[in-house]
Amino acid sequence: MPHYRRFSDASVSEKMLDSMFLITIGLGYLFALTHVFYSHAGRDGEAGLSVKDVEIAYFGESHQTRLGAALNGPMSGNLEKPEQKDVILEWIDAGTDEAAFNERIAPILNNNCIMCHSVEAEMGLPPLTSYPDVMKLTHTDTGASVQSLVRVSHIHLFGIAFILFFVGRIFILCEMNPMLKRVTVVIPFIAILIDITSWYITKIIPGFSYVVVLAGGLMGISLAMQILVSMYQMWIYKPKTDAHTLSEDKMHQ
Ligand code: HEC
Repeated sequence: MPHYRRFSDASVSEKMLDSMFLITIGLGYLFALTHVFYSHAGRDGEAGLSVKDVEIAYFGESHQTRLGAALNGPMSGNLEKPEQKDVILEWIDAGTDEAAFNERIAPILNNNCIMCHSVEAEMGLPPLTSYPDVMKLTHTDTGASVQSLVRVSHIHLFGIAFILFFVGRIFILCEMNPMLKRVTVVIPFIAILIDITSWYITKIIPGFSYVVVLAGGLMGISLAMQILVSMYQMWIYKPKTDAHTLSEDKMHQ
């Protein structure tokens, strides 16, 4: 029977390197979750993160504009007073009248938004400095553009493939049922492929946002399991005796 490397064959320095890597990846993952929260929470107008928020991020919302979605979501924190959001949303609902814009909306945008949203700010963000500019953002929200999804997809696939590969390389040094190990190593890759595919499908079929969330969750759980089981086996678990000597012992009894 061939001998496969296990944690019991690894030196302490190798295990320290592995541990530091796993801890850093685990922390990075927690920050990624926090980032998802900050960039999508509240898009549906309710506090907190929900499947509906994810749906709006990708599919858009037929009765929500890009300006409204941003104000309900990531841009809400830029307003001095929460009531200003309602003033803008009511103006959109009432039909985006130009006189009302100059009177009530422009002052809010000038005070809270144009330091980032203007050509002068050079941040590459849609300007909010004139009525025609703002009108471009008050049409129906069509969700993430294919171009932005493609950008995020390629970054995610390259980055996550490396993370999963190295975490998996460490995890296969664990002692466990080989079938369970094979499944655990493969699942996060399948999950991320399903996750990213379903971003695009959600653009067409909004209900697919559930698959986005489930696949993302599945990847998170399997990554967490690989990190925790690896750390446990590296430092706490003591293999009693290997299967080979065990069966030999039995024969001699
Ligand atoms: C500190 C800089 C900053 C301020 C202030 C700011 N924004 Fe933004 N805004 C951003 C950045 C960065 C993005 C792009 C990233 C994102 O979508 O989260 C963005 C995105 C947006 C979008 C989405 C644009 C799109 O392509 O769909 C809208 C709409 C928006 N902001 C409106 C506002 C409004 C209204 C205000 C004022 C209440 C405001 N922003 C204040 C930085 C800012």
